[in-house]
Order: sequence, then structure tokens, then C-alpha cells
Amino acid sequence: MTASASAARRVAYQLETLWDFDYEPTHDELETLYETAKKNQWNGSVAIDWSRPVGTEGPVLNTQVAFGGTNFFTRLTPEEQKEIEVRVSAWRLSQFLHGEQGALVVCGQLVNSIPELDAKLYASTQVVDEGRHVEVFEKYVKKLHKIYPVDPLLKSILDEILATNLWELKLVGMQMLVEGLAIAAFNLMRKQTADPTLATLLDYVMQDEGRHVNFGYFALRRAIPEMDAGKREHLEDFCFKACDVLYARDERTGFQSIKNVWTEMGWDADKIWRDTVANSPTTKHFNSFLFNDNLMPRLGRLGLISDRIAPKYREIGLLAKPE
Ligand SMILES: [Fe+2]
Ligand SMILES: [Fe+2]
Repeated sequence: MTASASAARRVAYQLETLWDFDYEPTHDELETLYETAKKNQWNGSVAIDWSRPVGTEGPVLNTQVAFGGTNFFTRLTPEEQKEIEVRVSAWRLSQFLHGEQGALVVCGQLVNSIPELDAKLYASTQVVDEGRHVEVFEKYVKKLHKIYPVDPLLKSILDEILATNLWELKLVGMQMLVEGLAIAAFNLMRKQTADPTLATLLDYVMQDEGRHVNFGYFALRRAIPEMDAGKREHLEDFCFKACDVLYARDERTGFQSIKNVWTEMGWDADKIWRDTVANSPTTKHFNSFLFNDNLMPRLGRLGLISDRIAPKYREIGLLAKPE
């Protein structure tokens, strides 16, 4: 391993661990969520039928649906379309896998740093959930093709969430942004796959992710009003910065490492990037599901889109301009 590769594997941080000796429940929603989490555990090695060969009963990715509106796709031969199906799926699922590993390690930190015991207990169930998600995505993507490297943008967001000492930022970063991102991506993949193994896998995982977003929302709804103005602004800025780079709309935003796939095929990666960002139904659905349907309303309800930060969201088109 090179020095830079081994450095990329290490994140240094200082983390405060908080004990809770009060043993007082903080809010009812957490108790209900904790019960659901215990009840709905599943075993990745038996819940999913791993005996089926991947991608034979139906395509792993319906490339017609995923790339239908783009210019490059219509010119491909059936063989090239099949290759794209496998490679793009493996690239996407690899990012899911790395994101799940990120969720696993961040959630371990949350068990330490969240102040209330009932929240720690809930987070402990999420650690097990995320471990299981790593397990099933790893197994699937290895069966399908190969593991692509972690996207630099995904890595940088995960590292920032890991490195902060502010548990509120870990919560908003992991439980709102990254989990929101995961749910949008999993939903889209679920709609675009006809492979029964992947469909079952995603159904199971999405059920868990729904709880994780709720956990973050309940905990933050309680924590944010108690934060001082400086910390709150820090949270608002972090959210805006992340949304700005995640909202794929031009040459510098979005998960650019998909270009590895186009390069592997021997194609002009930048040209296909521009084509897909402008024309791909996947990009459009992903952006609208992630931002319009989920993230922006939730951040708004949490009070993280203040009058101070709202104009910046308007500028990049994530909030409507006032009449
Ligand atoms: Fe997960
Ligand atoms: Fe999760």
C-alpha cells in the first residue's frame, strides 16, 4: 500500500464520551423506535437467497430506464449495454458499501458521544444494522463484479462527520444527509432492478434505513433548539456545503468517480458526465427525490434553513425564489 493510500484509511479525531447516570427516558418516540429495531432484526445470510446467480432472472439494472434520455446510450450495442449494466451497478453498489461502512463507524462514535442513554441504546441497534448492511452489500457486489474505490466526495463527507467532536453534527451529517442520500439511491436502484436477490436485499436494508432517519430526526428536533447560535450556524453551514456539492448539476458537483466506468470502457468520461447530468432520468429522479421530497423539507422542519442561509440555497436552485 502506498503512503497516501494508507493515510486515506486513517482519520484522527478527539471524541468526548458521555456517561448517563440518570437512567431517565428522554422521549417516547425513541422507546418505540428501539422496540421496532429489536423486533425487526434480520439475518443477512439467511433472509436473502444467495443461491441464485446474480443478474440471470432479470437485469441488475434496467439501463433503458437509467440512461434512456442520454445521447451516448442510444448509440451502444447490446453487448456494450450489458457491460454498462454490470459495471454501473457494481460502481453504485460499491458506493453503497463504502457508505455503509461509514455509517457503521460513525454510529459507533454516536454510542459514545450522544448524551442520553436511551439514544445510546437506539444507536447500539443501528451499529448492528449497519454491520449487516456492510455484510450484504459486500457479498452482492463481489458476486456481481468487483468493488470500485470509494468516491472522493463521499469519502470527504464521511471523514468530516467522523472527525468532528460535535455529536450534533455527526447526527445531522450521518442520520440526515448520508442516510437521506442512501435512501434516495436505494429507492432508485430498487425501481431500476429486476434481479430478485438485489430487490430483496434493498427491501430489507431500506426498512432499517427508514428507522435511522427517524432516529436522527427525533434526536435533532430535541437537540437543535438547545444549541447556542454559533454551533447552530456551524450545522447550517455544514448542511449547505454538503448539499451544494452533492446536488449534481455541473462539472464540479456530484459523484464524479462514475467516470472510472466510462474510462474503463474507453469512452470520453467528461463528455458522458455532461450528457448524463443534463439528460439522464436517473440524475433527475435522484436530485428531486433527495432534495425536494426529503432533505430540504426535513432540514426546514429542523430549523436548519435559517433566513441567513436560505439565499444560498436559492442561488443554487434548491429553494424556490420568493415571489
Ligand atoms: Fe445502512
Ligand atoms: Fe443507516
